[in-house]
Order: sequence, then C-alpha cells, then structure tokens
Amino acid sequence: MFPVWKGVFRRQKASKLESDMPCRPEEIPVHVAVIMDGNGRWARRRALPRAAGHHAGMLAMREVIRAADDWGIKVLTLYSFSTENWKRPRQEIDYLWQLVDEFFKLDIQELVERNVHIRILGDPSQLPLATQQTIARALEQTKANSGLTVQFALNYGSRWEIVRAVQQIATRIEELEISVSDIDEQMVSDALATAGLPDPDLLIRTAGDQRISNFLLWQIAYAEFVFVDVMWPEFTRQHFYSAIQAFVARERRFGGLK
Ligand code: FPP
Repeated sequence: MFPVWKGVFRRQKASKLESDMPCRPEEIPVHVAVIMDGNGRWARRRALPRAAGHHAGMLAMREVIRAADDWGIKVLTLYSFSTENWKRPRQEIDYLWQLVDEFFKLDIQELVERNVHIRILGDPSQLPLATQQTIARALEQTKANSGLTVQFALNYGSRWEIVRAVQQIATRIEELEISVSDIDEQMVSDALATAGLPDPDLLIRTAGDQRISNFLLWQIAYAEFVFVDVMWPEFTRQHFYSAIQAFVARERRFGGLK
C-alpha cells in the first residue's frame, strides 16, 4: 500500500511549488528536449577531471527532471550520449556508463514515487552489460507509470534513427504489407524511437554552442530553440524557468499566419 504520509508530502510539495510555476499551466511546453552540453568545460575551468564535470552534470539533470515533473511538463528528452560520443577516450566513456548505472540505482525510487515513465532512445546493446541490466530494471519498474515521461537518449543519433526507420518501412514494402504511396509523415514518425510521443515544443542547449548535433532532426521541425550560455552543471531550476518563460513569449505560427 502507498503510505499515507507520502501522499501528504506530495500534496504539500505541489502546493508549495504552485507559485514556482514559470507560466500558466496551459502554457507549459508539453515536450522539452535538452542538449546537456558543457560538462567538460565546466570541469576544465575548475582544474577538475572531465568525470567530475559529468558527475556535476548528473546532479543538474536530476534537478531538471524534478522541475519538469513539478511544473507538469509531459515529456522530457535528455541527450545523454550520442553515437558520436564513442570517439571520446575509453576512460571517459566508461565513467559515463558508470554514472548512468549510479543514477538509475540511486534515483529509481524517487522516479517511481513521482510516477515517472522512463524510455530510452538509442541502441543500448553496445553498453556494458551491467548498465544494460540496470536500465532494463528501471524500464520495467516504471513501465506502467502515467506521469512525466523521461526519455534518455543513450547511444542515440538522429541519422541512425532515421536510417532504421527507412529500413523498417522498406522491409514492409518488400514484404508487400504496404506500398510506396502509403508512406506519409505519420508512418515515418511512427517508425522513429519517439513513436507515440508529441514532437518537442522547446529545445534547450547549454554551453553557448548553437547547433543540433544529430539530435531529434525529424522531431524538432517546429520546436522553439533556447540557447543558454551557462555550462550544463551550472544549469539550475532558475535557468530552466527562464527558458520556459522565453518559450512562452515566442509566437508560434507553424508556417501559418497569426
Ligand atoms: C556533453 O558535455 C555531455 C555529455 C556527453 C554527457 C551528458 C551526461 C550527463 C549530463 C550525465 C548523466 C547522464 C545520465 C543519463 C545519468 P561535454 O562533455 O561534451 O562538454 P564539453 O563540450 O564542455 O567538453
């Protein structure tokens, strides 16, 4: 049974945070995607190893997940490891998998209590077995949850995802299940790792660079971009708050007229 005190705690927290909302509830972006950049630079500026930057980045990520849940965002997608990140030194890659393992072990209880549903974008089969197992457990434990969906892009690349979608659709044609003229935008969307979820409304990138780096290329067709100068480990709830306020101030026309 769910302990009574936990329900009370959650209610108190929700009411305390009402004044903390960055906008009216109906204005909140449904899906926020984040390129968490700058861990390495944050560490270098402090003469710390890159691993320390990633660890600090994990702490910032935890706070962003909490804020997204508190504010009623429905989907949060976090670019955690790209298909290009394999070019990094082995030691750094190993540390990142260790961190993923640590995060899911330490935070799973809270994520379950917050009714968070976890999804993975990318190919986890190349990850260390222990990390794969921790992730599989986290997916299992949260699969029935109906609250915030958090998608971790791990060994993810948008081009990889699009190639996989094309292969999937081509196979259906080859097997005479569909014909070429059946292909439409919905079919392509459904063949992507994000199938079934709305496209991002807001894309945030930290650390000053203004590029997309092979992230959700199809899905961000109409996303609003907010580039933030702070390094990811410095990104706080307040920065997230400001990014959402910037999003709310934008006029979205989706190619039409206002
Ligand atoms: C980019 O910064 C960041 C990454 C490649 C890793 C992101 C990982 C986390 C935030 C840690 C936790 C993740 C999980 C899922 C537990 P960078 O290293 O490219 O920074 P730089 O451009 O300054 O070198």
